[in-house]
Parts: sequence; structure tokens; C-alpha cells
Amino acid sequence: MAKSSNTIFFCKECGYESSKWSGFCPACSTPNSMVEAPKAGSGRGRLNSGNPLSQARPVSLSEIQNENQTRFSTGFEELDRVLGGGLLPGSLVLTGGDPGIGKSTLLLQMCRHMALSGRKVLYVSGEESLSQLKLRAVRLGEFEGDLRFLCETDMDRILEILKEEVPAVAVIDSIQTMAAQSAASAPGSVTQVRECTNMILNTAKSLGISVFIVGHVTKDGAVAGPKLLEHMVDTVLYFEGDRHASYRILRGVKNRFGASGEIAVFEMLGSGLKEIPNPSAYMLSGRPENASGSVISCIMEGTRPLLLEVQALLAPSAYGQGRRTATGVDHNRVALLLAVLEKRLSLGLSDFDAFVNVTGGLKLSDPALDLAVVMALYSSHKNKSVPDNLMVFGEVGLSGEVRSVQLAKERVQEAARLGFTACLLPKSSLSADLNARGMKLIGVSSIQEAVSIL
Ligand code: TYD
Ligand code: MG
Repeated sequence: MAKSSNTIFFCKECGYESSKWSGFCPACSTPNSMVEAPKAGSGRGRLNSGNPLSQARPVSLSEIQNENQTRFSTGFEELDRVLGGGLLPGSLVLTGGDPGIGKSTLLLQMCRHMALSGRKVLYVSGEESLSQLKLRAVRLGEFEGDLRFLCETDMDRILEILKEEVPAVAVIDSIQTMAAQSAASAPGSVTQVRECTNMILNTAKSLGISVFIVGHVTKDGAVAGPKLLEHMVDTVLYFEGDRHASYRILRGVKNRFGASGEIAVFEMLGSGLKEIPNPSAYMLSGRPENASGSVISCIMEGTRPLLLEVQALLAPSAYGQGRRTATGVDHNRVALLLAVLEKRLSLGLSDFDAFVNVTGGLKLSDPALDLAVVMALYSSHKNKSVPDNLMVFGEVGLSGEVRSVQLAKERVQEAARLGFTACLLPKSSLSADLNARGMKLIGVSSIQEAVSIL
């Protein structure tokens, strides 16, 4: 197929550019994600004209004036923490997530708070009508102060209004519905999404407006995903969680003004989102007592320790070959840990079905969960329960050794805070400063030692 030279191929997911089409993206390996779009020729020149950096010259550090930029609160303490201690004027924040997860609700609640505390706020929606916005707003409480709404999808008009009004904070919900005249393609296409974000970026930075951009995560739909924009914005937040469960996790994936990897946990109620300041207690609520196959472990999300329950069930298989099913933890990791258990503890597990589940619907990759998975499997196999007041963490190696993990102190402290009185942990993580009041620390160096406490 001969292609004219004034078009180029983009990956809808990550924005990778190529002059040739291919069946999957060479950069992120997503199949069928390459789409054809016009080369950004005429549009590009215009983009730079408004850029204050185009006349730049080199300066030394001492010449740089630190305008005293004070961060301000979004009204959610947890969100402030994910942002690195509040919102900086002029910063661009991308909020991604599946449709219906609660992005618009979170941002509207944030706008409400900031208007209440005396800031000028503009909420631009390209998805909902004014009456739909009002329906949502009445569920969230009283609104006061300078918060105004605009239903518009024309980017040029939005920028005009931003320049006229100069709000302190603006929300663009969502970037995939916006269209700029200069990019001659459909809303939601790679070219449009990039062009619109670039236009917002220039305006927001020059006027000092903090902008929240909403981006839908799409599986393989016709619109470009928010990944494409990650390198253009200052901060990237992803809203995750099971749409059917009530809690939501907001994860900071990138942050130019603070630590990334921080999370905030929210609960979706009838009157909007409520932050959960104590997520460990929330995750552990309703756990069974004295049940075999249930073990409490601690993972780290950014700097935040989170206690959760690992459940395992080993049941004789109906068909000779045992099935392995894992939810929340990597399937291959579970297979590996089962093999280690079989080999090092001489257990015959091949004709058992094994199910491992981390409650709460989280997807975890912290290796500190290994020892808890091993203990849960063993406890289910022997039908002996793990003591209720015991918290377990540690990485397990192929020879059955228990290896140290980072931030052991934070994990032990979190367990002590929630009333646990004993901790099973890698021997190599034991140190003098670990001692939390009233906490019994059991250091082990192999899984044989670990299971012997049962
Ligand atoms: P929404 O913020 O519209 O999601 P997004 O903008 O990410 O697409 O949230 C929609 C869901 O949240 C919807 O299923 C209804 C629910 N919801 C509540 O449970 N309570 C509330 O107070 C509100 C406003 C929404
Ligand atoms: Mg929405």
C-alpha cells in the first residue's frame, strides 16, 4: 500500500511515531494501535509562537528567581499528599482512569472546595450537559464561591475564555472530547489530543493556571489513551479500582513536584467520594477469624504501608492435573511459589487445585508478599490457621530462602499501629531500630523455619 509522504503513523496508546504502518506498536507492543494521521506541519509552527521559552538563553542557577510559589490544598488531604503537598499554581495534572470510575466526581468535589476557599475555578465539560452537571453537583453538597461551568468542546474558544477569566484552577473533562481547528482530524484522535494538550500547556503555564485534564483509559477503542500525554504534563494520576466495589485508589504515576508512587484511597458513597485516611483498617475489615489459608501481609505503595489479607485454598483436583488461579498477584509468581513449596517441603501439590486471592481487588507486585502466599498455601494444605495477631512479610527465593525486603521498619510499625502483636519477617531484616512496642519479631531465613511456627 503506497502512502503519501504527508501522513505519519501514531500509536494510539503511547504516541510512538513511525513512517511505516505495523500490526503492533514497536514501542509498547500494543496490537492494532497504529493509526494514520496527517503530519503536524502547519500546526507545529503556531504551537511554538506562544511559547515563552522560544527566546530562551542559558542562565546559571543563581540567576533563577524562585517565585515564591505556594501550594494550595485541593480539599482532600490524601490527594494533596499524592500531589506532593498540595497543588502548585501553573501545574498540569492528568487524571486517567476507566470510564465511570469517578474522575468527574473527584474533580468536581475538589473544585467545590477550592471555590469555597476563595479561588476562582472553571469547570469545562465536553461530556455532560449543564443540567447533568447540576444533577451530580446537588449530590455532593452546597456550592458557594466563584465556581463556573462551561460546556464546550472547541479548544480555541476554551482558551479564549481562559485568557479572559484567568481562573486559579481549571478542569478539562475530558481531553478526548476536545477539538482544535488547527488539527484537522476527529476529536479523540492522536493528533487532536496532542494538539489540544499543547495549547492548554502553553496557556496554563503563561497565565499560571493549574489545569486538571481528564483522560479516559481505553482498552482498544477509537480514541487515544492518556499514556500518550504522560510526558507532556507535570503530574499523572491514575484512578483504579473495581467499579463494583466501593473503594477507589488514586495513584501518582509521575510527579515533577514530589515523589511518585504515592496512593490515596477513597470510598464512593451516595454523596460523592470520601477519603479513607486509614486504608489498612479498611482493607482488613471483615476478615475471617481462625480460618486456615488466611494470612495478613504488608505491602508498600509509595511511602505508604498497606496491610491486606492473602487467602489461599488448596483442594483436591477433580481432574488429575491441578489448576492454579491467582487474583491480585501474578499468576506466574504463584506457580513458582507452589513449586518451591513442593520441592523444599516435599509436599505433593500437583494434584491439588490452588487458588490465591488478595482481598480488595488490588493488583500487586511487591515481592514482600511471597512469604504470606507461601504461609497461606501451607496453612490451607495442613488445615491449620495462622495466628490472628501475626503479620507476615518477606521475599522467597528459589531455594526456599527468605530474603530481606526494603522498608521493614515501616511495615512493622503499621502492623503495631493496627494492634498486631507478632511479625514473621526475614532474619536479615531484623535490626535494633525495628523494635516497635509490644511487638514480637520472629526472624526466619527459610520457608522450613517459617512454616514450623504453625
Ligand atoms: P463519574 O465521576 O461520572 O466517573 P468518570 O468521570 O470517571 O467517568 O462517576 C460515575 C459513577 O459514580 C457512577 O456510576 C455513579 C457513581 N456516583 C456515586 O456512587 N455517588 C456519587 O455521589 C456520584 C456523584 C457518583
Ligand atoms: Mg466523567
